[in-house]
Amino acid sequence: MILGIESSCDETAAAVVERGARTASSVVASQIATHARYGGVVPELASREHLRAIVPVVRAALAEAQISLADLDAIAVTSGPGLAGALLVGITYAKALAFASGLPLIAVNHLEGHIHAVLLEERQALGAGWAAGDEKLSGGDEAALALVVSGGHTHLYMARPTAGTWQYSLVGRTVDDAAGEAFDKVAKLLGLGYPGGPWIDALARFGNPKAVPFAFSQVKTKVHLEGRAPRTKAAKTAPIGKLDSRFLFSFSGIKTAVLRYVELHGMRAEAEGRHSRLYGEGRTANPPLTKEEALGLCPQGTLDLIASFQHAVVGDLMKKTFRAAEALGVRRILVTGGVAANGELRERFAAEAGRRGMRVAFPTLKLSTDNAAMIAAAAWPRFVAREFATEGLSADPSLALR
Ligand code: KG4
Ligand code: ZN
Repeated sequence: MILGIESSCDETAAAVVERGARTASSVVASQIATHARYGGVVPELASREHLRAIVPVVRAALAEAQISLADLDAIAVTSGPGLAGALLVGITYAKALAFASGLPLIAVNHLEGHIHAVLLEERQALGAGWAAGDEKLSGGDEAALALVVSGGHTHLYMARPTAGTWQYSLVGRTVDDAAGEAFDKVAKLLGLGYPGGPWIDALARFGNPKAVPFAFSQVKTKVHLEGRAPRTKAAKTAPIGKLDSRFLFSFSGIKTAVLRYVELHGMRAEAEGRHSRLYGEGRTANPPLTKEEALGLCPQGTLDLIASFQHAVVGDLMKKTFRAAEALGVRRILVTGGVAANGELRERFAAEAGRRGMRVAFPTLKLSTDNAAMIAAAAWPRFVAREFATEGLSADPSLALR
């Protein structure tokens, strides 16, 4: 029984997972309401909210699992990548809890957590079958290409099971913004809610995805490869010099293209009007309008722009992921992270995998975005291998996955 703790970004989460295969509890306290008005995560506010939430969230996870600290075998915590101050809240609390209870502490990479969200649910689906510990049963003994696509990352990893634990090698990644960041920025530009992904997802269904032909072919990865690229968050977690440029992503261009389109078509005032209707003064709920109500505030041209943006981003994610899978000879793809919750992404990846005779798996919607069940699940192989963290464990905001 492992207690997982996650505080890398804007969700304070705790969960109890048995043998990386059965979720006994999973509690997520979201800070969306705190950050929504700023249209993005404010690091100082995130740390403060984590401090406020961590004790009740861990207590709730234990209570929901109907166990006490004494029933646990280990405590797992996200040690990076993420916001330093936010990570430190979870790490400090986990360390104190481990010290006080005499339990071993396991450090988990947040990205490995996202990959294990899929593996956890595959094992969970087998129920008692998994208890026999046979990885073959869940397909968990098979190498997979994992696309981790969230607000902070758009990374492609080869994940290989070796002697009970997993090894990862980076295959591709974004050279600038993460895909989720593009969803969030475009939503903000159009005066929609935060985080933007779910809003764009809901509204895209009503627009024509072919109305605005956004192209990804202009991506100049060469500029980045020649070392002239600006230093970005992602650049720290994974240098791109050694990666195949066919598997590199770039999402800052489409964000600018949407901005230009909005300006060229005089859609600025309309977007600002929508934003003040959503977040205007005197509103108490956050956001006060539902996505259905937002639909009424979007002219057809805006819906077409939203649908075209989403179609282009999903198409680019697909193209490069399947290209990498073919090149590496893998038949199994995992798509995980917040953006994996996207409806169009799921439909199109599943259809394309079917056409190519490949398999693709996603976490359920609840486990797509940040949670602690994935952290406790990723800790299980490390627990078996007795890979414990030392007292010196600290936050590593740009921790790479290996
Ligand atoms: O994994 P996550 O909760 O946190 C990070 O590790 O970043 O991902 C959050 C990101 C946000 O950018 C959000 O807009 C995006 O995932 N997202 C979506 C959807 N739901 C969440 N993007 C597209 N479609 C969705 N349905
Ligand atoms: Zn995440």
